[in-house]
Amino acid sequence: MAKMAASVVETGEDAFKKIFKFYKRRYPPPDFSDVIDFSKCVTTDKIVPVKLNPAAVSDDDAANVGLHPVKGWRAFNLQGYPGFIFITNPFLRGSQPFWIRQCLKSYPQKPNVCNLDMHMSPADTQDIWAKSVTNLSCASVGKREPRTLLERLRWVTLGYHYNWDSKTYSANHYTPFPPELHLLSSQIATACGFADFTAEAGILNYYRSDSSLGIHVDESELDHSRPLLSFSFGQSAIFLLGGTHRRDAPTAMYMHSGDVMVMSGPSRLLYHAVPRVVPARQEVALVESERGGAQGGAILEQVSAEDWAVCCRYIRSSRINVTVRQVLGQGRSFPPAEDETKRKRRRSSDSPKTEET
Ligand code: OGA
Ligand code: MN
Repeated sequence: MAKMAASVVETGEDAFKKIFKFYKRRYPPPDFSDVIDFSKCVTTDKIVPVKLNPAAVSDDDAANVGLHPVKGWRAFNLQGYPGFIFITNPFLRGSQPFWIRQCLKSYPQKPNVCNLDMHMSPADTQDIWAKSVTNLSCASVGKREPRTLLERLRWVTLGYHYNWDSKTYSANHYTPFPPELHLLSSQIATACGFADFTAEAGILNYYRSDSSLGIHVDESELDHSRPLLSFSFGQSAIFLLGGTHRRDAPTAMYMHSGDVMVMSGPSRLLYHAVPRVVPARQEVALVESERGGAQGGAILEQVSAEDWAVCCRYIRSSRINVTVRQVLGQGRSFPPAEDETKRKRRRSSDSPKTEET
Protein backbone atom coordinates (compact mmCIF):
# COMPACT_ATOMS: atom_id res chain seq x y z
CA MET A 1 0.00 0.00 0.00
CA ALA A 2 0.96 3.61 -0.57
CA LYS A 3 3.83 4.75 1.62
CA MET A 4 2.61 8.33 2.05
CA ALA A 5 -1.03 7.32 2.17
CA ALA A 6 -0.13 4.38 4.44
CA SER A 7 1.26 6.73 7.03
CA VAL A 8 -2.14 8.34 7.55
CA VAL A 9 -3.92 5.06 8.19
CA GLU A 10 -4.14 3.18 11.41
CA THR A 11 -5.83 -0.18 11.73
CA GLY A 12 -9.47 -0.54 12.69
CA GLU A 13 -10.44 2.89 11.44
CA ASP A 14 -12.25 4.25 8.42
CA ALA A 15 -9.12 3.89 6.31
CA PHE A 16 -11.01 4.84 3.16
CA LYS A 17 -12.06 8.19 4.61
CA LYS A 18 -8.52 8.95 5.77
CA ILE A 19 -7.07 8.31 2.31
CA PHE A 20 -9.94 10.20 0.67
CA LYS A 21 -9.10 13.23 2.81
CA PHE A 22 -5.40 12.74 2.13
CA TYR A 23 -5.91 13.08 -1.63
CA LYS A 24 -8.55 15.78 -1.35
CA ARG A 25 -6.38 18.10 0.73
CA ARG A 26 -5.41 21.41 -0.91
CA TYR A 27 -2.74 22.81 1.42
CA PRO A 28 -0.22 21.41 1.42
CA PRO A 29 -0.98 19.31 -1.66
CA PRO A 30 -0.59 15.56 -1.13
CA ASP A 31 2.19 13.36 -2.40
CA PHE A 32 0.88 11.74 -5.61
CA SER A 33 3.79 9.34 -6.06
CA ASP A 34 1.73 6.29 -5.11
CA VAL A 35 -1.09 6.95 -7.56
CA ILE A 36 -1.09 4.26 -10.24
CA ASP A 37 -0.89 5.61 -13.78
CA PHE A 38 -1.97 2.86 -16.16
CA SER A 39 -1.00 5.02 -19.15
CA LYS A 40 2.64 4.74 -18.16
CA CYS A 41 3.30 1.20 -19.43
CA VAL A 42 4.86 0.10 -16.15
CA THR A 43 3.84 -3.30 -14.90
CA THR A 44 4.39 -4.00 -11.25
CA ASP A 45 3.23 -6.95 -9.19
CA LYS A 46 -0.06 -5.05 -8.67
CA ILE A 47 -0.72 -4.15 -12.30
CA VAL A 48 -1.44 -7.15 -14.49
CA PRO A 49 -1.88 -6.70 -18.25
CA VAL A 50 -4.92 -8.58 -19.49
CA LYS A 51 -5.62 -9.77 -23.02
CA LEU A 52 -9.24 -9.23 -23.89
CA ASN A 53 -10.78 -11.45 -26.55
CA PRO A 54 -9.99 -9.71 -29.88
CA ALA A 55 -12.49 -11.92 -31.70
CA ALA A 56 -15.42 -10.81 -29.52
CA VAL A 57 -15.82 -7.49 -31.34
CA SER A 58 -14.99 -7.05 -35.02
CA ASP A 59 -12.66 -4.20 -35.97
CA ASP A 60 -15.52 -2.65 -37.95
CA ASP A 61 -17.91 -2.78 -35.00
CA ALA A 62 -15.25 -1.19 -32.79
CA ALA A 63 -14.50 1.55 -35.33
CA ASN A 64 -18.20 2.20 -35.75
CA VAL A 65 -18.37 3.56 -32.18
CA GLY A 66 -14.95 5.18 -32.36
CA LEU A 67 -12.82 2.47 -30.76
CA HIS A 68 -9.49 0.95 -31.76
CA PRO A 69 -9.53 -2.75 -32.67
CA VAL A 70 -9.72 -4.74 -29.40
CA LYS A 71 -6.34 -6.36 -30.09
CA GLY A 72 -4.77 -2.91 -29.72
CA TRP A 73 -6.38 -2.05 -26.37
CA ARG A 74 -4.16 -1.84 -23.33
CA ALA A 75 -6.16 -3.39 -20.53
CA PHE A 76 -5.15 -4.21 -16.98
CA ASN A 77 -6.30 -6.05 -13.90
CA LEU A 78 -5.36 -4.93 -10.44
CA GLN A 79 -3.98 -7.45 -7.99
CA GLY A 80 -6.50 -8.00 -5.19
CA TYR A 81 -9.46 -6.62 -7.18
CA PRO A 82 -10.85 -9.49 -9.28
CA GLY A 83 -13.26 -8.33 -11.96
CA PHE A 84 -11.84 -4.83 -12.17
CA ILE A 85 -10.58 -3.94 -15.66
CA PHE A 86 -8.89 -0.67 -16.58
CA ILE A 87 -8.64 0.10 -20.32
CA THR A 88 -6.37 3.03 -21.14
CA ASN A 89 -8.02 5.26 -23.72
CA PRO A 90 -9.25 2.81 -26.37
CA PHE A 91 -10.75 5.61 -28.48
CA LEU A 92 -9.60 6.21 -32.03
CA ARG A 93 -7.97 9.52 -32.63
CA GLY A 94 -10.76 11.86 -33.69
CA SER A 95 -13.61 10.10 -31.88
CA GLN A 96 -13.49 11.60 -28.37
CA PRO A 97 -14.82 14.93 -29.71
CA PHE A 98 -18.06 13.20 -30.69
CA TRP A 99 -18.56 11.64 -27.24
CA ILE A 100 -17.64 14.84 -25.43
CA ARG A 101 -20.08 16.82 -27.54
CA GLN A 102 -22.81 14.26 -26.76
CA CYS A 103 -22.12 14.68 -23.03
CA LEU A 104 -22.30 18.47 -23.18
CA LYS A 105 -24.79 19.25 -25.93
CA SER A 106 -27.07 16.26 -26.38
CA TYR A 107 -27.38 14.27 -23.13
CA PRO A 108 -28.36 17.24 -20.91
CA GLN A 109 -31.39 17.82 -23.16
CA LYS A 110 -34.93 16.73 -22.42
CA PRO A 111 -36.27 14.16 -21.88
CA ASN A 112 -33.13 13.37 -19.88
CA VAL A 113 -33.03 14.66 -16.31
CA CYS A 114 -30.39 16.94 -14.78
CA ASN A 115 -29.67 18.68 -11.49
CA LEU A 116 -30.92 22.01 -12.87
CA ASP A 117 -34.41 20.53 -13.25
CA MET A 118 -34.65 20.25 -9.46
CA HIS A 119 -35.08 24.00 -9.04
CA MET A 120 -35.79 25.34 -12.53
CA SER A 121 -38.75 25.10 -14.88
CA PRO A 122 -38.53 22.85 -17.97
CA ALA A 123 -38.52 25.99 -20.14
CA ASP A 124 -35.50 27.35 -18.29
CA THR A 125 -33.51 24.14 -18.63
CA GLN A 126 -34.47 23.72 -22.27
CA ASP A 127 -31.33 23.87 -24.43
CA ILE A 128 -28.67 24.38 -21.80
CA TRP A 129 -26.07 24.34 -24.57
CA ALA A 130 -27.53 27.21 -26.60
CA LYS A 131 -28.01 29.30 -23.47
CA SER A 132 -24.38 28.76 -22.43
CA VAL A 133 -22.20 28.93 -25.52
CA THR A 134 -21.60 32.66 -25.61
CA ASN A 135 -20.66 33.13 -21.95
CA LEU A 136 -18.85 29.92 -21.13
CA SER A 137 -15.84 30.69 -19.00
CA CYS A 138 -12.42 29.25 -19.70
CA ALA A 139 -11.00 30.08 -16.28
CA SER A 140 -9.45 26.91 -14.92
CA VAL A 141 -8.88 28.03 -11.33
CA GLY A 142 -10.40 30.39 -8.84
CA LYS A 143 -13.57 30.40 -6.83
CA ARG A 144 -15.76 32.68 -8.87
CA GLU A 145 -19.38 31.62 -9.17
CA PRO A 146 -20.18 29.58 -12.25
CA ARG A 147 -22.18 31.67 -14.66
CA THR A 148 -23.67 29.58 -17.41
CA LEU A 149 -26.07 26.67 -17.13
CA LEU A 150 -23.38 24.40 -18.55
CA GLU A 151 -21.06 25.43 -15.73
CA ARG A 152 -23.83 24.74 -13.21
CA LEU A 153 -24.54 21.30 -14.63
CA ARG A 154 -23.57 18.65 -12.06
CA TRP A 155 -25.34 15.50 -13.21
CA VAL A 156 -27.55 14.07 -15.92
CA THR A 157 -29.42 10.77 -15.80
CA LEU A 158 -30.34 8.62 -18.80
CA GLY A 159 -32.65 5.65 -19.32
CA TYR A 160 -34.05 4.54 -15.97
CA HIS A 161 -33.52 7.81 -14.13
CA TYR A 162 -31.77 7.38 -10.82
CA ASN A 163 -33.75 8.88 -7.95
CA TRP A 164 -31.17 10.50 -5.67
CA ASP A 165 -33.53 10.64 -2.68
CA SER A 166 -34.90 7.13 -2.64
CA LYS A 167 -31.71 5.72 -4.23
CA THR A 168 -33.81 3.61 -6.54
CA TYR A 169 -34.70 3.23 -10.19
CA SER A 170 -38.30 2.65 -11.18
CA ALA A 171 -40.23 1.32 -14.14
CA ASN A 172 -42.27 4.49 -14.53
CA HIS A 173 -39.39 6.92 -14.67
CA TYR A 174 -37.75 5.89 -17.90
CA THR A 175 -36.88 7.61 -21.17
CA PRO A 176 -35.11 5.95 -24.11
CA PHE A 177 -31.41 5.30 -23.50
CA PRO A 178 -29.24 7.00 -26.18
CA PRO A 179 -28.73 4.29 -28.84
CA GLU A 180 -25.14 5.27 -29.70
CA LEU A 181 -24.08 5.12 -26.04
CA HIS A 182 -25.84 1.79 -25.78
CA LEU A 183 -23.81 0.54 -28.74
CA LEU A 184 -20.50 1.85 -27.34
CA SER A 185 -21.26 0.18 -24.00
CA SER A 186 -22.15 -3.12 -25.68
CA GLN A 187 -18.84 -3.23 -27.55
CA ILE A 188 -16.81 -2.54 -24.39
CA ALA A 189 -18.81 -5.06 -22.34
CA THR A 190 -18.57 -7.71 -25.06
CA ALA A 191 -14.80 -7.32 -25.29
CA CYS A 192 -14.68 -7.84 -21.52
CA GLY A 193 -16.74 -11.04 -21.71
CA PHE A 194 -20.23 -9.63 -21.10
CA ALA A 195 -21.82 -10.08 -24.50
CA ASP A 196 -25.35 -9.87 -23.07
CA PHE A 197 -24.90 -6.55 -21.25
CA THR A 198 -27.79 -4.11 -21.74
CA ALA A 199 -27.22 -0.42 -21.05
CA GLU A 200 -30.36 0.67 -19.20
CA ALA A 201 -29.30 3.59 -17.02
CA GLY A 202 -26.61 6.22 -17.20
CA ILE A 203 -25.33 8.76 -14.71
CA LEU A 204 -23.16 11.58 -16.02
CA ASN A 205 -21.18 13.49 -13.42
CA TYR A 206 -19.68 16.86 -14.33
CA TYR A 207 -16.67 17.91 -12.27
CA ARG A 208 -15.08 21.31 -11.88
CA SER A 209 -11.48 21.54 -10.72
CA ASP A 210 -12.61 21.61 -7.07
CA SER A 211 -15.24 18.85 -7.28
CA SER A 212 -15.09 15.47 -5.64
CA LEU A 213 -17.30 12.41 -5.48
CA GLY A 214 -17.91 10.89 -2.06
CA ILE A 215 -17.26 7.34 -0.91
CA HIS A 216 -20.01 5.01 -2.09
CA VAL A 217 -21.04 1.63 -3.47
CA ASP A 218 -23.32 1.41 -6.51
CA GLU A 219 -25.86 -1.07 -5.25
CA SER A 220 -29.19 0.36 -6.46
CA GLU A 221 -29.16 -1.74 -9.61
CA LEU A 222 -31.14 -4.93 -9.20
CA ASP A 223 -28.65 -7.37 -10.75
CA HIS A 224 -25.12 -6.99 -9.41
CA SER A 225 -23.80 -9.72 -11.70
CA ARG A 226 -23.90 -7.13 -14.51
CA PRO A 227 -20.80 -4.96 -14.91
CA LEU A 228 -20.68 -1.22 -14.41
CA LEU A 229 -18.88 0.76 -17.12
CA SER A 230 -17.20 4.11 -16.57
CA PHE A 231 -15.96 6.55 -19.22
CA SER A 232 -13.83 9.60 -18.41
CA PHE A 233 -13.37 12.71 -20.55
CA GLY A 234 -11.57 16.02 -20.10
CA GLN A 235 -9.43 16.75 -17.06
CA SER A 236 -7.89 13.86 -15.14
CA ALA A 237 -8.91 12.66 -11.69
CA ILE A 238 -7.86 10.32 -8.92
CA PHE A 239 -10.04 7.25 -8.45
CA LEU A 240 -9.96 5.34 -5.18
CA LEU A 241 -10.95 1.69 -5.30
CA GLY A 242 -11.48 0.16 -1.88
CA GLY A 243 -12.89 -3.01 -0.45
CA THR A 244 -16.22 -4.23 0.88
CA HIS A 245 -15.66 -2.32 4.14
CA ARG A 246 -14.70 1.27 4.81
CA ARG A 247 -11.83 0.01 6.94
CA ASP A 248 -10.17 -1.44 3.82
CA ALA A 249 -7.57 1.01 2.53
CA PRO A 250 -8.25 1.89 -1.13
CA THR A 251 -5.86 1.88 -4.09
CA ALA A 252 -5.41 5.21 -5.89
CA MET A 253 -5.20 5.50 -9.68
CA TYR A 254 -5.41 8.21 -12.32
CA MET A 255 -8.27 8.42 -14.81
CA HIS A 256 -7.37 10.36 -17.95
CA SER A 257 -9.50 11.46 -20.88
CA GLY A 258 -10.72 8.44 -22.82
CA ASP A 259 -10.01 5.90 -20.09
CA VAL A 260 -12.61 3.20 -19.50
CA MET A 261 -13.12 1.18 -16.33
CA VAL A 262 -15.19 -1.95 -15.92
CA MET A 263 -16.27 -2.99 -12.45
CA SER A 264 -17.47 -6.56 -12.69
CA GLY A 265 -17.57 -9.70 -10.57
CA PRO A 266 -16.46 -9.14 -6.97
CA SER A 267 -15.26 -5.59 -7.77
CA ARG A 268 -18.79 -4.54 -8.74
CA LEU A 269 -19.76 -3.83 -5.14
CA LEU A 270 -16.57 -2.27 -3.81
CA TYR A 271 -16.39 1.13 -2.17
CA HIS A 272 -15.00 3.81 -4.47
CA ALA A 273 -14.68 7.59 -4.71
CA VAL A 274 -13.11 10.46 -6.63
CA PRO A 275 -11.34 12.71 -4.10
CA ARG A 276 -9.74 15.04 -6.60
CA VAL A 277 -9.67 16.34 -10.14
CA VAL A 278 -6.10 16.83 -11.34
CA PRO A 279 -4.93 18.87 -14.32
CA ALA A 280 -4.40 16.70 -17.37
CA ARG A 281 -0.81 16.60 -18.62
CA GLN A 282 -1.00 16.20 -22.38
CA GLU A 283 -4.30 14.39 -22.73
CA VAL A 284 -6.66 17.32 -23.11
CA ALA A 285 -4.37 19.25 -25.44
CA LEU A 286 -4.16 16.14 -27.61
CA VAL A 287 -7.90 15.66 -27.64
CA GLU A 288 -8.37 19.33 -28.49
CA SER A 289 -6.39 18.79 -31.67
CA GLU A 290 -8.44 15.76 -32.66
CA ARG A 291 -11.47 17.20 -34.40
CA GLY A 292 -11.26 16.46 -38.09
CA GLY A 293 -8.66 13.78 -37.36
CA ALA A 294 -9.10 10.19 -38.41
CA GLN A 295 -12.71 9.60 -39.41
CA GLY A 296 -14.66 7.55 -36.91
CA GLY A 297 -17.43 5.12 -37.66
CA ALA A 298 -20.83 5.59 -39.18
CA ILE A 299 -22.63 6.66 -36.03
CA LEU A 300 -20.08 9.34 -35.16
CA GLU A 301 -21.37 12.50 -36.75
CA GLN A 302 -18.79 15.16 -37.45
CA VAL A 303 -18.53 17.76 -34.66
CA SER A 304 -18.67 21.29 -36.07
CA ALA A 305 -15.74 23.61 -35.42
CA GLU A 306 -18.05 25.93 -33.43
CA ASP A 307 -19.32 23.12 -31.20
CA TRP A 308 -15.82 21.79 -30.66
CA ALA A 309 -14.52 25.21 -29.62
CA VAL A 310 -17.15 25.27 -26.86
CA CYS A 311 -16.33 21.71 -25.77
CA CYS A 312 -12.62 22.59 -25.62
CA ARG A 313 -13.28 25.57 -23.42
CA TYR A 314 -15.28 23.32 -21.11
CA ILE A 315 -12.80 20.43 -20.83
CA ARG A 316 -9.88 22.79 -20.26
CA SER A 317 -11.09 23.09 -16.68
CA SER A 318 -13.61 20.30 -16.19
CA ARG A 319 -14.05 16.58 -16.20
CA ILE A 320 -16.97 14.46 -17.37
CA ASN A 321 -17.65 10.92 -16.21
CA VAL A 322 -20.29 8.64 -17.67
CA THR A 323 -21.29 5.47 -15.84
CA VAL A 324 -23.45 3.00 -17.68
CA ARG A 325 -25.46 0.43 -15.77
CA GLN A 326 -27.72 -2.51 -16.41
CA VAL A 327 -30.47 -2.16 -13.83
CA LEU A 328 -32.49 -5.33 -14.34
CA GLY A 329 -31.45 -8.92 -14.66
CA GLN A 330 -31.53 -10.49 -18.11
CA GLY A 331 -35.18 -10.75 -19.17
CA ARG A 332 -36.38 -9.41 -15.81
CA SER A 333 -38.67 -6.52 -15.00
CA PHE A 334 -39.12 -4.34 -11.91
CA PRO A 335 -40.52 -6.10 -8.85
CA PRO A 336 -43.66 -4.66 -7.21
CA ALA A 337 -43.08 -1.45 -5.26
CA GLU A 338 -40.53 -1.93 -2.51
CA ASP A 339 -41.52 -1.85 1.12
CA GLU A 340 -40.55 1.17 3.14
CA THR A 341 -37.93 -0.55 5.33
CA LYS A 342 -35.90 -1.53 2.30
CA ARG A 343 -36.04 2.00 0.97
CA LYS A 344 -34.94 3.40 4.30
CA ARG A 345 -31.99 1.07 4.42
CA ARG A 346 -30.97 2.22 0.95
CA ARG A 347 -31.30 5.86 1.89
CA SER A 348 -28.71 5.43 4.60
CA SER A 349 -25.85 4.77 2.17
CA ASP A 350 -24.08 7.43 0.14
CA SER A 351 -24.80 8.55 -3.43
CA PRO A 352 -22.61 8.96 -6.50
CA LYS A 353 -23.14 12.71 -6.73
CA THR A 354 -20.34 15.27 -6.93
CA GLU A 355 -19.85 18.10 -4.50
CA GLU A 356 -17.60 21.15 -4.37
CA THR A 357 -15.21 22.05 -1.61
C1 OGA B 1 -20.47 6.98 -10.18
C2 OGA B 1 -18.99 6.99 -10.05
C3 OGA B 1 -16.86 7.75 -10.84
C4 OGA B 1 -16.28 8.88 -11.59
O1 OGA B 1 -21.02 7.80 -10.94
O2 OGA B 1 -21.10 6.14 -9.54
O3 OGA B 1 -18.48 6.27 -9.23
O4 OGA B 1 -15.15 8.72 -12.06
N1 OGA B 1 -18.27 7.78 -10.85
O5 OGA B 1 -16.91 9.94 -11.70
MN1 MN C 1 -19.92 4.80 -8.43
